[in-house]
Amino acid sequence: MTRAEADLTADLTIAEVCGLAPVVPVLVVEDAAVAAPLARALADGGLRALEVTLRTPAALEALAAMAEAAPDAVVGAGTLRTPEDVRAAAAAGARFGVSPGFSHAVLDAAEAVGLPMLPGVATPSEAMAAAERGLELLKFFPAEANGGVPVLKAWASPLQGLRFCPTGGVGPLNAPDYLALPNVACVGGSWIAPPELVARGDWTAIAALAREAAGLER
Ligand code: 3PG
Repeated sequence: MTRAEADLTADLTIAEVCGLAPVVPVLVVEDAAVAAPLARALADGGLRALEVTLRTPAALEALAAMAEAAPDAVVGAGTLRTPEDVRAAAAAGARFGVSPGFSHAVLDAAEAVGLPMLPGVATPSEAMAAAERGLELLKFFPAEANGGVPVLKAWASPLQGLRFCPTGGVGPLNAPDYLALPNVACVGGSWIAPPELVARGDWTAIAALAREAAGLER
């Protein structure tokens, strides 16, 4: 079964989620009314894992609307900082969770509700703590500010077995450099859904950005 043919109705591991496309769009949705067309544009462009950040009052409603509008994609929740965030995201239908940092409380809550997690790490110590919990795929955040590609290259040998989703400062120009690294599974970024295009409802332009991102080699 190819990635494109993966059964998206089944429970997916975080590695399977990251395997769906080279780029996970990080979405800040201010108005739940745009959620459905936004999700369709991204999925039609070939991006199959969508992260809705819990940073706006509309986020949970948007997440549920996206999941309904794009059954050919897997919708997760980002910016999970507390156990309450985890439970709210799962209740809204999130299929995976992303957090900016490494929190045992957040990971415990996610395990309790069966939500696969992509926790953020910025140091080898945090990566080791995550590995001790059995996690093998981690968000490297904020990627560019923490040293970017050279840091992930330096981590490859001592932290072998771990793979990363660099996020934060990643865009179309540097995404190929990250995706070329053997310890990078996918990248995350907000460039695929710029606020001005969302505000204009320019779904054609967003689908084009998504198609370009979905076509990146890894
Ligand atoms: C974020 O915190 O919003 C994400 O890491 C995305 O960062 P970006 O806007 O630099 O892609």
